[in-house]
Amino acid sequence: MSNNTNRRDFLGFTFAAVAAVGGAASLVGMKQAWDPLPSVLAGGFTNVELSGLKAGEPSTVMWRGKPIFVLKKTADMEKSERDLIVGSDRFIVAIGLCTHLGCIPAWKKDTWKCACHGGEFNSSGKQTFGPPPRPLDLPPFSVKGTELVLGEEGPEYKKLDAYLQAQV
Ligand code: FES
Repeated sequence: MSNNTNRRDFLGFTFAAVAAVGGAASLVGMKQAWDPLPSVLAGGFTNVELSGLKAGEPSTVMWRGKPIFVLKKTADMEKSERDLIVGSDRFIVAIGLCTHLGCIPAWKKDTWKCACHGGEFNSSGKQTFGPPPRPLDLPPFSVKGTELVLGEEGPEYKKLDAYLQAQV
C-alpha cells in the first residue's frame, strides 16, 4: 500500500466527517427556523378563569386579536343548547364581532347591541333584531376544571359547534 493511498483515504474520511457535522448543524438550524417562536405559541391560547366571573356581567378578553365575550348567565336568563355548563353555572362564549359587518356590540340591558346598524343579540348570542344573519360565532375552546382555554378544540366546543352548525 502506498503513501498516496493512505493520504487519499485520510482526505476522504476528513471530508466525510466535515460534511456530516455541517449537515447536522444545518438540520438543527432549519428546525429552529421552522419551529414557531415561544411567543407565537403562547399567543395562540388565552385562559379565562370562569369561577371569578360575576353573573350577568360579560367579560371581554382578547384572543388572537379578536374580542371574546364570556357571560355567566343569571338564573333569569333563558337556557340555551348553546350554553356551556361548568359545574352548576351556565356560560355563553362568543366571538364579540357582529355577524353582519363585524362591529363590536356593546352589552346593554341583557342584550348585545350593535351600534353600526342596530343589530341585537340576546344573552345566548342569538340574533334577535336587525340585519345580523346568524348568532355570534363560537371561538374554539376547551375547559380544564373551571378554566376556559381559548384556542383549543375540546369536546365541549365540538358539541356546541355541532349544535350551531345544525341550526344553519
Ligand atoms: S355591523 Fe352590526 S348590525 Fe351591522
